[in-house]
Order: sequence, then C-alpha cells, then structure tokens
Amino acid sequence: MDVLRFTTAGSVDDGKSTLIGRLMYDTQEIFEEKMEEIERNTQRDDEELELALLTDGLRAEREQGITIDVAYRYFSTPERKFIIADTPGHEQYTRNMVTGASTAELAVELIDARNGVVEQTRRHGFITSLLQIPHVIVAVNKMDLVGYSEERFREIVDQYEEFAENLDVKDITFVPISALKGDNVVHHSDNMPWYEGSTLLHRLENVRAEATRNQVDFRFPVQTTIRPHQDFRGFAGRVESGKIRPGEEVTILPTGHTSQIDTITTLDGDLDEAGPGESVVLTLDDEIDVSRGSMIVRSRNTPDVTRQLDADLCWMNEEAMRQDRPYVLQHTTRRTQAYVSKIVYRTNVETFHREEADTFELNDIGRVEVETADPLFVDPYKINRSTGSFILIDPDTNDTVAAGMIRGVAEDVTPYGQRTEPGMETEKETSPNVTWEGLQIPREEREDKNGHKAAVVWLTGLSGAGKSTIAKAVEERLFDEDVQTMMLDGDNVRHGLSGDLGFTPADRKENIRRVSEVARLFFEQGNVTLCSFVSPYQEDRDQARELLPEDVRDRFLEVHVDCPLEVCKERDTKGLYAKAEAGEIANFTGVSAPYEAPSDPDVVVNTYADDVEACVDQIVEALEARGVV
Ligand code: ADX
Repeated sequence: MDVLRFTTAGSVDDGKSTLIGRLMYDTQEIFEEKMEEIERNTQRDDEELELALLTDGLRAEREQGITIDVAYRYFSTPERKFIIADTPGHEQYTRNMVTGASTAELAVELIDARNGVVEQTRRHGFITSLLQIPHVIVAVNKMDLVGYSEERFREIVDQYEEFAENLDVKDITFVPISALKGDNVVHHSDNMPWYEGSTLLHRLENVRAEATRNQVDFRFPVQTTIRPHQDFRGFAGRVESGKIRPGEEVTILPTGHTSQIDTITTLDGDLDEAGPGESVVLTLDDEIDVSRGSMIVRSRNTPDVTRQLDADLCWMNEEAMRQDRPYVLQHTTRRTQAYVSKIVYRTNVETFHREEADTFELNDIGRVEVETADPLFVDPYKINRSTGSFILIDPDTNDTVAAGMIRGVAEDVTPYGQRTEPGMETEKETSPNVTWEGLQIPREEREDKNGHKAAVVWLTGLSGAGKSTIAKAVEERLFDEDVQTMMLDGDNVRHGLSGDLGFTPADRKENIRRVSEVARLFFEQGNVTLCSFVSPYQEDRDQARELLPEDVRDRFLEVHVDCPLEVCKERDTKGLYAKAEAGEIANFTGVSAPYEAPSDPDVVVNTYADDVEACVDQIVEALEARGVV
C-alpha cells in the first residue's frame, strides 16, 4: 500500500500533540490499551478527549528507550499508510524540524487562529522551502476559540500567502480546524459551513506523493558486502533513487570500474526491477572491488564526484560551528573528514535577508562551503534529496551538529582545510614576456654520454614510511653504477626552496609544484632524480608526471612507499605523530590531514614486510625494465 511520510510543525501550544492524537484516534488506529487508558483518565461524557495524553504517553515510553530525536508514528486508513515524523522539544525547533522533515513529503504547519502567522511560522516556512518539502498544509487550529470565524481564517490565509511568495513551495493548502473538537480533521465540521474544502485527512490521503520521488537517477550507496559462501558476492543497500534492472551497465564509484547487474535479490526472491526506497542485494557480472561507502550508479548517469561542496547548512548544536577543526561528514553510507571552509552568509529566517557571519550557532541557517578529505558522489538536493544531503558529526561527542543540503560543487575552489580570503588569487598566469630557452645540448646527447637515460623516481608515502631511507639507498646503488643522480627530499627542500610553505593543502600543492618543476629541469639535464615527498594528493603527483614530455613519461616512476599508519606511528622517528595527536601540529598527514594512496603506482615497496635492500632491488629493476639503466 502507498505510504505518505509527513511532519508536523508548530510550537507546543499550537496543538501538535492534540492533532496527532486526533488523527490517530479518529482513524481508529490507536492501540486498544491506549484507548482504555484515555477513557480511564477522562470523563466519559466529556466530549473533549484528552488526546494529548495519548501521544505524551507514547513519548514517555519512547524517551525511556530510544534516544533519537525523531519519533515515528504510524496510522493508516483504507487509502494510505501514514508515517508521522514527530519531533519533541520546544525550544530547538529548527533542529527538530530539520531532523523530522528530512524525509517528509508533506508538512502540516499548525497556526493558532488567535495568533495568526508568527515568527515561528515564518521560520518553519523557510525550512520547508529549504528542505524542498513538496506539499504544505497550513492547518489553522483552535478555530473554536475564535468563534469559527471565516473572516479570521481568511486573514491568516492572506498573511501566510504574502510571506510564502518568497518561498519555494509549490503546493500550499489551508484548512480551518479544531484538533481538540475534531473539526475538519477527519470529519467535516458543522461549525464551519462556510468552509467548502476538504478535511485535513482527506488532503493527506489524496496528495500525490510518488510523483516527487526521483525515479530517474539510479543511486545505490552500498551498505555492506555480503558473502555467505564462495560463489555469492552481493552488495546490500537501499535504492535511494532511480531504477535498475538486471543486465544494465553500472559504474562503481570511487573506482570507476564498470560491470553489469547480474541479479537483484531480496528476501522474497529475485526482482526484475528495483526502484526508490527498496532495500535489495545486487550482484554483478564481474568480481570487482566494492565495499561499504561505494556507490553503484548507471554508467551513463553519474553523480558529481567532488571534495568541495556548496551547501545550505542548518546548525543544530549548542556549541557553535568552528572552521578550524574537522568534523565527520556522513553522506549516504560514506563517512569522511570535513572542514567548513567558508561561510558565505547566514540567512535571517524572519526577514530572509542574508547576513555576514563568522560562525553559525544553534538553529542558524545559511550557505557554506565544505571541503572533504575523500571525494563524495553527490547530486544537488533539488533533484535528489538523498544524495543531495549530508550531516556533520562532532567526532568527540558523536553528536549530529549540522544538516546540509547540497546546492552543487563549490566553484570557488578553496583547498581542503583552508579558508579563502576575499580577493585571494588561486591561480596565477605565467608572465607573457617569458620564453622557454632551448637547451644548448639536447637531453638525448647527454643521455648518450652518461650511458643511461633520464628519469624521475617519485617516492610518496606517510611520514615515517621510509621514503628518505629508500631514496638514499637507491641513490647510493645508482651512484656506484656511475649514474648521474639528483636528490630532492621534503625535509631539505622545506628549509630553502619551500621554506615559506606550511602544510595546508594549498601549501603542499605549491611545494609539490615547485619540486616537480625542479625535477623536470634535472630531467632535461639527463639526471635520474629521486624525489621523496609525502605528496598526499594524487592530483599533485599526476601533475608532476605530466611535466615530463609525453613520449618519455613512462620514465616517471611513482613509487608508493607503503607502510601501515599504525606502524609509522609506532616508529615515530621524528616524534611528530605524538605531537600531532596531542594537537600540537595541525594538518598532519594520517592524523588530521588525508593521504591519498596512489591509485595506479608504478612500484609499491612495503617497508613493513621487506628490508631496505629488497625495496631498492624493486626500484632498480623497474628502472631497468624501462631502459633507464
Ligand atoms: S608534502 O605533503 O608537501 O609532500 P613534505 O614531504 O614536503 O610534505 O614534507 C613532509 C615532512 O615534513 C615530513 O616528513 C615531516 O617530517 C614534516 N612535517 C611537518 N609537519 C608536517 C605535517 N603537518 N604533515 C606532514 N609532514 C609534516
């Protein structure tokens, strides 16, 4: 049967509990024992049932058990099943509403007929629009207390419509009700003959919900890999949007591998097609690497892959947002480290004006840019509420501190973990008056004379992995063979050439850019240049390779000096890990900054398992295989 998820908004006194109770009571779907309890506690001949009692009873029960912020209630009619996301709490309304509304297809906004549109109504309206909840029912409640006045109802409708002009909500309807007396909730009211519209329940039953679900873009975030026996390897998860059938070609993110869907399995057997909201197990035609946090998508319809998000953010924690510390970002089944790199503006939800802000406090909403350590696979929230949203978690307390709605990939590219200042240049053009001075002696002639070819051996890895040790040993071996070598090492270069740089992503990028350029010059002079740098970003290493002429680019050897982080920490040759963990060094690779292992290294040496000589052998063999020596 068809299901509608909706949320209710309104301050406590607007009668939220009473309305929920009324809906459940009048639809005869309350638990019988609860019914009895109500009847015991209220005079039977008293028409006005203490409906709030019902929901409050449920709430007390819930609060003893589960400690999540949202409680889901269910009721159904012959037409439809309903899930109400109810959010307790009186003061932290924004947080609660965002939490409850994030999966809702409809919002019931309660307005006390005596008070009309108040600040909170505007706030809720704004959030509804921000969260792109497609349908809104404005329930003007407590009509009994304003003498069931049509005039008062019209006044409130006008007030609401006026401010809703600035909102992005397509479908708004108004119903005059009294939750307490039961007017126009489930049954038509005789008290308001002037109202010819439908009851609240009738609207809930008839609003078209499915049309708003994204049926087009197939997105399947993998929750777990299932391998009950050798012959079966499946990937469990929920179809967040779109549809898929066996035989269709899919791409696995982040690896980019492609395959075909073999089967779509559920507990009740295999399916011909899976669609939004369905939890299934997919198997693929090929054995490829898929794990939790991977996303399976259609090859011809892929999301944006990015580490830079432009998002609307709602801050939901007592502790204000900080830009100098990392948060954990949860996006579908993926978790990664993230910084708020820029606050674009904060929205004044009463006036809808954009204000300058240094931070966001509890219930603040506005636009930010977020940088993540790992790439995410995202769609704009407007076209996909699932892959378009994320939450931020405080890694120390595990609290959800913010909810985000992605608008797109941040254009203003601020490197990970760094703020941009207005007017800061990100790219400089080369001076137009500089030409490339051709070398007097071509590289080939130098190579002939040297008796070996030029090459760049690029060692990348964590601090303490053994890059410098291996580089020195390789150099010694080559030197003994009369090879012309050069050595560029992070710790040395950072005393001079890169002495002005720190360890922000932008600084590292610049560091690597400089040494890549130097390596290129040495290459043209016929040397075998050993470069030993953490160089944590694949993109930067790729750029170093691309500086070599295309026909000899295979003489750039990307060597992954591999060693488990735990071992590097234990070795801690320079005592830097201890400092980093104590918070004394910021942006420390492996602790508070990312390391992207080479995706396609030319050589991998394992300094944990093998001794130095064995690692050197591997590298020298690779140079021989490429005809360098
Ligand atoms: S890179 O990231 O720009 O490639 P590079 O290799 O030049 O780094 O420098 C790394 C060396 O600097 C490390 O071996 C370590 O001794 C030192 N260092 C100091 N601070 C940091 C940091 N925050 N992250 C990594 N290395 C650091």
